[in-house]
Amino acid sequence: MCGIVGYTGKSDALSPVLEGLRRLEYRGYDSAGIALPTQPGEKLWIEKRSGKLGNLEGVLGDAVPKSHSGIGHTRWATHGGPTDKNAHPHVDNEGKLALIHNGIIENYVELRNELEKRGHVFTSETDTESVVHLLSDARKSHNGDLAAAMRDVCKELRGSFTLLAIHSDDPERIVGARRNSPLVVGVGDGENFLASDVAAFISHTKRALELGQDEVVDITPLSITVTDLNGAVLPHNEYEISWDASAAERGGFPHFMLKEIYEQPKAVADTLIGRTHGLSEEITAGIDLKAITKVVIIACGTAYHAGMVGKYAIERWADVSVDVELASEYRYREPSIDKNTLVIPISQSGETMDTLMALRYAKSHGAKIFSVCNTNGSTIPRESDGVLYTFAGPEIAVASTKAFLTQLVAMYLFALHMGRVRGTLSPELDAQLAQEIAELPGKIEQVLETVEPLRELTRKFKDSTSMLFLGRHVGYPTALEGALKLKELAYMHAEGFAGGELKHGPIALIDEGTPVIAIMPTENSLLNEKMASNVQEVKARGAIVIAIGDADLPSATHNIRIPHTHEFLQPVLAVVPLQVIAYEMAVARGNDVDQPRNLAKSVTVE
Ligand code: G6P
Repeated sequence: MCGIVGYTGKSDALSPVLEGLRRLEYRGYDSAGIALPTQPGEKLWIEKRSGKLGNLEGVLGDAVPKSHSGIGHTRWATHGGPTDKNAHPHVDNEGKLALIHNGIIENYVELRNELEKRGHVFTSETDTESVVHLLSDARKSHNGDLAAAMRDVCKELRGSFTLLAIHSDDPERIVGARRNSPLVVGVGDGENFLASDVAAFISHTKRALELGQDEVVDITPLSITVTDLNGAVLPHNEYEISWDASAAERGGFPHFMLKEIYEQPKAVADTLIGRTHGLSEEITAGIDLKAITKVVIIACGTAYHAGMVGKYAIERWADVSVDVELASEYRYREPSIDKNTLVIPISQSGETMDTLMALRYAKSHGAKIFSVCNTNGSTIPRESDGVLYTFAGPEIAVASTKAFLTQLVAMYLFALHMGRVRGTLSPELDAQLAQEIAELPGKIEQVLETVEPLRELTRKFKDSTSMLFLGRHVGYPTALEGALKLKELAYMHAEGFAGGELKHGPIALIDEGTPVIAIMPTENSLLNEKMASNVQEVKARGAIVIAIGDADLPSATHNIRIPHTHEFLQPVLAVVPLQVIAYEMAVARGNDVDQPRNLAKSVTVE
């Protein structure tokens, strides 16, 4: 969702604030704004613009005043369209207090009515603006104590929020708060940072502090104070950021997405290190995997597709029934849960609100929670009983690639582990899978070495209006992921189907020249022939078939070869050409690859 950054210290604040916004732009990019204190007690200097951060940067020029503190925001609109007026920061009527927000204030209408009665004049359609007026009044009743005012205001708010505020009377101070939305502190030397995620300040400091639910943080260049909403001072929970600053840069690639596609062998290898022969005890601490009678995987978007693949592996290797649920649907069904239910949230960001809410629901009904997450210190792992971290590093492109591959291997590692603990895996299969999993990074590398012709082929379909993806078994979620990538990036109608389901309706979509991508099950598997028949069915109706598999399919129009692996592991290799197709199609159609329209990477609203 929105990206939030605050800086206070020795440097000219514009530079770290803009740099932070650039690194957080993946979170939202329909408008951006900055607030800087100039002279104590004077109005703040504010600039905000609709559109991408570049629009804001384009109007900054030399007129920006020097300041040693500031806050910045990049927005993904919820309440009020993406206009200059609705862009953050929002200011109080004196223009001295500025506020930025990520999340949704659910009671903003009541607050606004009340505040208007008290004489506050509103200039935007946002839910956020109510908070700045409320904070302005609260600050006056607390004799200018912004942190005390923030604590009071948070008690009055419903919904989810990360808030940062700055007042020109006390320009070195930035006060932040969070509820169900991320905020981290970057601890510097004579300077401190606040941001939605560590990427914002990673080139300045590797020291970070976690903030818990309903905590308020007050920073100056030399101090950091964290309190609960009653003002009790809380201890600091500091950690070292393992990501490298260069990981958040493009490093010669034209787009982050392409760079991240090429980082996949390393991301998978890093996630596998030391784990193919067993997960360490801390990871599943407190969870008796032998007692589990049902597994429920909850996730959204791409992570949901990783969960679908996980279902195949866990059911077969650990002999337990698995449901995969869209996190946004799960809790509203009021599903049956008990203490022998294991719930596995999968989330790259660890902050997806739908997933977090489903997790909390399951936990409150007694389930054990074991999450798969890429972001250390984020909310989902913090609220889980056990966590398996993936090591994809920072994923900046909005469309997920390397995080997906690491989620897949995390599911395999967990399924293997659970099978071992439950004694449901034969030693032969165990050894074969461990070996095949360990070989995946090298095989992904091989796929990447052969994708150039696919890029050329993709460009031929640039003007197609639709593309269909077929798969069976684990190839089915792979097909769904291929279609999702294409929708996200190429803004093209794309759908994934189970090969066998095609004849029950979707085959009506096939027309002369419709491109169909067929994910072929491994050559020696039972389903290979069945899928070959499904390909014949679409070919007979005029489709152009691109087959992806470990052997050529003679009836396909084009064949894309991937190395052979165990049939359950094939998505790790088969999805890579699908990512390349989506990437190339987006480039060919002139779309913004890293920041596709209407999307945001980390969706912290329900
Ligand atoms: C958003 C992103 C998707 C992502 C999904 C889940 O919708 O646009 O790319 O798959 O959130 O994100 P998570 O961080 O929970 O894996």
